[in-house]
Amino acid sequence: MESHILQLEHVSKTYPNGTRALKDISFCVEKGAFVSVIGLSGSGKSTMLRCINRLHEPTSGNIIFNGKNITHVGERELRDVRGQIGMVFQQFNLIKRRNVLTNVLTGRLGQWQKSISGGIFQHWPKEWIDDAYAALKTVGIEEKALVRADGLSGGQQQRVAIARTLMQKPQMLLADEPVASLDPSTSHSIMKYLKMLNEEHGVTVLCNLHFLSLVREYSTHVIALRGGEKVFEGKPSDITEQWFRDIYGEEAREVEIRA
Ligand SMILES: Nc1ncnc2c1ncn2[C@@H]1O[C@H](COP(=O)(O)OP(=O)(O)O)[C@@H](O)[C@H]1O
Ligand SMILES: [Mg+2]
Repeated sequence: MESHILQLEHVSKTYPNGTRALKDISFCVEKGAFVSVIGLSGSGKSTMLRCINRLHEPTSGNIIFNGKNITHVGERELRDVRGQIGMVFQQFNLIKRRNVLTNVLTGRLGQWQKSISGGIFQHWPKEWIDDAYAALKTVGIEEKALVRADGLSGGQQQRVAIARTLMQKPQMLLADEPVASLDPSTSHSIMKYLKMLNEEHGVTVLCNLHFLSLVREYSTHVIALRGGEKVFEGKPSDITEQWFRDIYGEEAREVEIRA
């Protein structure tokens, strides 16, 4: 059986304005891994995640998901692939004026169907609603099901976003700085839920992170980017103080995020 869920082969991305955001990136992700992607702001982390689910088109190179080259697949196949890949964002990306339950239910539609007509919200299958409550229970906020999304704290909103991806039953989760807007103890709580998805639901996680202490605590593998290039790949314990300064610059200090 194929042990890699994801493979990037010589992936480069140059934006139309000429910015070379990714330069010849190659790596493999094993099924079940929790991979952190680190690097300064502007190093290409978001561009890389967006190339993986093809929100952006890579300029060259190949992206192989579950043994299938998805770099140039058409719309329908792309929808299938995206159905298997959950996304979590720094700003949660919930529908603010809808309740929590509705937000979670939209995960079953695929978050790629952005323009849903209003009427559809009233007619969810009973089975989906049961699954949505189960997903909310998994992240410990089923009692918030009927509260409007914008009535929740940031940490609660991110838990809703995680529950929404659970509705997809994803094989892989891409998280773009999921705790960057949260305070330290909430950050740990969210990282623990991501870790639970990884360990208990078998979801492979690729997570852009800023703080090395979180990387060390939660991930099994690390990839570091600098100026669009991959400058490190290994285990969190292999990141020495010198590596850290190479990645973040000489002035950087390892900041501890305490719960
Ligand atoms: N849509 C875009 N058009 C042009 N340049 C972009 C675009 N998005 C990002 N960039 C540039 O690409 C580089 C990498 O950005 P990004 O992937 O957002 O890095 P990170 O997520 O690590 O902060 C930066 O120089 C950024 O300014
Ligand atoms: Mg980013």
